Amino acid sequence: MGERKASQQNATLTIDGKTIDLPIYKGTIGPDVIDVRKLYAETGTFTYDPGFTSTASCESDITYIDGDEGILLYRGYPIDQLADHGSFMETCYLLENGELPSAVQMKEFEHAITMHTMVHEQLTYFFRGFRRDAHPMAIMVGVVGALSAFYHDSLDITDPDQRMIATRRMIAKMPTIAAMAFKYSTGQPFIYPRNDLSYADNFLRMCFAVPAEKYIVNPILSKAMDKIFILHADHEQNASTSTVRLAGSSGANPFACVAAGIACLWGPAHGGANEAALNMLEEIGSVDRIPEFIERAKDKDDPFRLMGFGHRVYKNYDPRARVMQTTCHEVLNDLGVTDDPLLDVAMELEKIALNDPYFVEKKLYPNIDFYSGITLKALGFPTTMFTVLFALARTVGWIAQWEEMITDPSQKIGRPRQIYTGAAQRDYVPVSSR
Ligand code: SDX
Repeated sequence: MGERKASQQNATLTIDGKTIDLPIYKGTIGPDVIDVRKLYAETGTFTYDPGFTSTASCESDITYIDGDEGILLYRGYPIDQLADHGSFMETCYLLENGELPSAVQMKEFEHAITMHTMVHEQLTYFFRGFRRDAHPMAIMVGVVGALSAFYHDSLDITDPDQRMIATRRMIAKMPTIAAMAFKYSTGQPFIYPRNDLSYADNFLRMCFAVPAEKYIVNPILSKAMDKIFILHADHEQNASTSTVRLAGSSGANPFACVAAGIACLWGPAHGGANEAALNMLEEIGSVDRIPEFIERAKDKDDPFRLMGFGHRVYKNYDPRARVMQTTCHEVLNDLGVTDDPLLDVAMELEKIALNDPYFVEKKLYPNIDFYSGITLKALGFPTTMFTVLFALARTVGWIAQWEEMITDPSQKIGRPRQIYTGAAQRDYVPVSSR
């Protein structure tokens, strides 16, 4: 872990005539923070920050976002460089260990992950309990949480070796479980992982191969899949990562924490936006209907929002969206899809939204979910699988952040407070008197 540095100046706060000094810390880059840990003890007041828009929950070395400049760094490396020149396995090593691996380290890490790609055979019985039309995210929450019922040798969070095995199991087994969830929804048999395939090749084969014939992975699609995993791997203290950290702060085992993260990611305002964005494009259907939906997005009385637009942090273009857009065109070109009406609607919607004063003033730019849905559909995935793929990729970020939280000496169980606006104390009234 790097070291925050105390600023030369403190923040001074005066409440009811009492003045206190609050330390200010500087990070490597990004906003300074005011340490308010002693605020309640010294003033009897809490801070108030619904949605944590101005609150740093932790100190972290893993990922940095500059929302105004549209910058995203994984351990200091720009996301576009990692996506263009690296691999998801290399990114996993980087996020977990803080440095890019040497060739030897990479080989050892990939071998270790490969050796954990199978799941306990009993786990297949969990799927039998779901309806075939169950949303795959419902299956993911249940099955990933159930991993803690099988891997008892990697549940002791105080043991670094067990944490490392749990980390590798999570990274290795998510593709297998995700592919099983997809296969179960189609009624096709599960396909076992193969140790001679790369991470992305293995995943695509487990999703799309059938026992009846040979499956050849398309290298363009595999590269696109790997790039999509890189783009989704981590993203600071977003809602699902904060969920994993909060669950982990109670001492819950890593499989339970990741299951909590999957549940949070499912929401349409978060990871569920890629599924919602594609459903929105399909609902719009044609370019001439875009103005109607733009007006609905502006209408305060209409809950409709342009899914795939806007972000809590990026008030400039989401750097992942740019890479996603390029990847989207590469995939569609390789597949010979030149007249995808959804892409036409997406391109026109983006152009209109980026010039409409409402969206410009509110800095609502396309985010990663805007183009990922079109790409994933072109890769052959149903919309219900989009957030599953996001969860698959984000697992490495969740588990890296979980490990950082576990080993941070300043961390304790997360327990936010509140401002209470309910009834003052009052005595019980018997029902005969109500
Ligand atoms: C992800 O946090 C992360 O890092 C998340 C993520 C990650 O990698 O982990 O990046 C992944 O979740 C990306 C975001 C995916 N979500 C969507 O695409 C859903 C649509 N977007 C919105 O729901 C919204 O933009 C949020 C939730 C993403 C962010 O909203 P904010 O910044 O919390 O603020 P807000 O919801 O209060 O919106 C601010 C204003 C509001 O108008 P006013 O009340 O100020 O008049 O902008 C408007 C909103 O009505 N607005 C939109 C809009 N998003 C915000 N209006 C129309 N369409 C939209 N998409």
